[in-house]
Amino acid sequence: MKINVTDRAGNQRVLECTPGDRLMEVLLALDLVEATCGGECSCATCQVYVADGWIDRLPAQGAFEAELLDELLNARSTSRLACQIALSEDMDGLTVTVAQHE
Ligand code: FES
Repeated sequence: MKINVTDRAGNQRVLECTPGDRLMEVLLALDLVEATCGGECSCATCQVYVADGWIDRLPAQGAFEAELLDELLNARSTSRLACQIALSEDMDGLTVTVAQHE
């Protein structure tokens, strides 16, 4: 499966990934996010903006994710934390933009 990612420099990439991968791990492997908390849902350095049409197709936010996103000044209604998204085959073509640092 493939996902479309715009990095912080504005470069668009098509990334090959495997169902079951966490989105954060895919981005971290290419140094596109820092993921300093290691996926513990506490650093928000893995924030992405999900493209229109995709946000409702992702699993719902958990309470910790929603709380953390609430505290971010640059969060949008389409924000998600990549460490909280396990990729599945029905997410083939998922399109996200890596959020800038706060
Ligand atoms: S990796 Fe820290 S919140 Fe996602």
